[in-house]
Order: sequence, then C-alpha cells, then structure tokens
Amino acid sequence: MRREGSATDDWSRPGPTGIAPDSNARLPDDGEEGEHVVIGRLIRRLKISDPPARFQALATNVLRASIGVEAAAWVPAGEHEDVIVSGAVEGMTSRCYRLLGGSPGRDGVHLADAPEAARVALAPPSVRGFAAVGAGSAGALVVVNPVEGRAIGALEIERGQYVASLIAAQSHNARIYADLKDLLFGIIRALTAAIDAKDPYTSGHSERVARIAVRIAEEMGMPPHKRSDLYLTGLLHDVGKIGIDDDVLKKVGALTPEEYRRIQEHVEIGVTILRDLKKLRHILPGVRHHHESLDGTGYPDGLAGDEIPIEARILAVADSFDAMSSNRPYRRRLSPMQIDDILAKGRGSQWDPEVVDALHACRMDVEAIRQKGLGDSLFGVVDVTLGRR
Ligand SMILES: [Fe+2]
Repeated sequence: MRREGSATDDWSRPGPTGIAPDSNARLPDDGEEGEHVVIGRLIRRLKISDPPARFQALATNVLRASIGVEAAAWVPAGEHEDVIVSGAVEGMTSRCYRLLGGSPGRDGVHLADAPEAARVALAPPSVRGFAAVGAGSAGALVVVNPVEGRAIGALEIERGQYVASLIAAQSHNARIYADLKDLLFGIIRALTAAIDAKDPYTSGHSERVARIAVRIAEEMGMPPHKRSDLYLTGLLHDVGKIGIDDDVLKKVGALTPEEYRRIQEHVEIGVTILRDLKKLRHILPGVRHHHESLDGTGYPDGLAGDEIPIEARILAVADSFDAMSSNRPYRRRLSPMQIDDILAKGRGSQWDPEVVDALHACRMDVEAIRQKGLGDSLFGVVDVTLGRR
C-alpha cells in the first residue's frame, strides 16, 4: 500500500524550474506512470527563488508518499542547517536523523543492524526499519518505517538518490540566486545613496516618489508586478543627476537657459548610467520620460498623451507632488491648498487627469507615505526584478 500526500501538500501546482537536476540520477523505471508523474510534479515546483528549506520540505513529503514510509527526512551536511522531516515517528528527534544521515543506503536496515550511536538514539521501539536512501555532499535523505514492514529496496534507494540530487541542485542554485539578489540590491542602494549624496537637500526624495507612485498605481488598478517595476523606476528616476555639475544642480537663484538645458540632460544621463544593467532595462522608459508633459511641451522627446509611458505619467505626478510638499533652499513647502490648486491647473495639460484623480482618491495614504515612509520595500521588489525574463 502506498501513502498519499496530505491534504496540505502543495506540490501539485506547476511552477517555474530554472535548475537542472543531476543527470546521473536516473528516474526509476518501474513501469508505474503514477510515480513518474509524482517526481515530474516535484521537478516543476523547483524554484530557485524559494528558500531551500521550503523545497526540502516539499521533496521529503513527496518522497514519503512516493515510496511509502512513515517518515522521510532531509539531513543537511551542514551542522547548523535544520533537519527537515515529513511525517512523524514517535521518539525520533532531529538528532536521531542526523545520526542516521551517515549510514549507508541498503536494503531494509533494522534497528539491530544500526551503528551503536544510532541504536542509542533510536531506542524507541516505534522504529522498525530505516535507511539513508539518498546522499550527496549536500546532505542525506533518511526514511523510517516502511509501511506493512516492506523492505526498503533498490527502487526506493534509486528514487531517494534522484530526490536528493534535486534538493542539492535547488540548494546550490538558491545560494547563487541569493547572491545575485544581494548584488542587485546593493547596486540599487548604492545608486540611490549616490543620488542622495549628490543633493542632500532632496535626500529621500526618490524613495518617497517611488512609494507615492506605487500607491497611485494601486489606486489605478496596476497589477503588482508592474507596481514593483514602477517602484524601482521611482527609486532611480533621477539617477542622472549624478552627472550634473553641483553649481548648476544646487544653484539657489534663477537658472539661465543654458543651465536649465543642462539640468534637463539628467534624464538622458540616467539612461546612460543604467542601460548596461540588463536586469534594469525595463525601467529605462520611465527614467527617460518622467519630465514629459501631457500636452507635448515636456522633455526630452516632447511626447504627448498616451505616447508617454504610463509609468512616466504616474512618476510625473508623484515627483511634482513630493517636490511641492518639500522645503527647498529657495522656497518653503507649499500648503495642501496651493498644491491642489497647481494640480488642478495642470490636470489635462501637464499631467494625466486619471493620475491626478487617483492621487486625490488616495491623498490620505500619500500624505502618510510622505511623512512616515510607509510603502513598498526594496528587497521584495528585487525578487520580482530578478524573476523577469
Ligand atoms: Fe527628474
């Protein structure tokens, strides 16, 4: 008799793969198509963005159901990693599984055959048979108590090896993914820190614009993955200011036409800074066009109406709102009434009316974001960014 997975098992849904299992670990050919389907489903649930413990729990669950044992456990080679157990055998602790993790795979290992240390650990009479059915440098798979006293044979060991290779591959790739995520996170943080350092007076502006833009986009019904992209675009929309001379960028008095033209170049400089970061290419239109005006009088390309990417139209409103709500060297922050007046005058000419209306619809939230720094966080957004193809 074979066990079925519990009702809470979540391994039947398909998911992105992204890693290749050990090609030496062949899928057992026992003529039972159902078993192939089970392992196939496990492979489809391999996600490198998942924490390894999540996949290990899934894999041990599938293995337990697949070969019919009371409990299956993944015993990591690392002392400080948790033992992951599916099922339960009375008296079996993580320490017991660790001791068994080093025992060789073999047919029907019984308590009397176990190493001395394991026998001590497995004193509970509830343990009838066990084996390490899959092992590698990453760890070992241990199964305990085959149902109906059935021996653990070559088929089960081969299947265990296959599952162990999947776990090892997922752990390895998850580590690489985590490193990549840290790297991208660091690059984005370094760039935003550079923007803030360039002009301390507007420090925090990019972060606020990003969060306000996301809230407006939510009000407009933009899907979550698009909002993640928008958040990133908001963080980096003014990155090109790094390339603008301080005496122009920080000038308190009126700008000359030449100085104003120089400031305008920050959108193109931003694209130049970011374009070699392949994972950030999707945010370039928002960076380039966040100073376009709905009536076509903006820069750098004089786009009008729907020609302006929606991300840029939202950023334009969020950017202006935060600028008007902040003190500047040359003026104090504007009052809410003054801001509303300016937004009303520019609605439909400078700004997309739908975006301005969305801002008004969530005005209280936007104020809270501005004052308390609420909203999206970069770490979750980096996940979405790395997941893009
Ligand atoms: Fe800008």
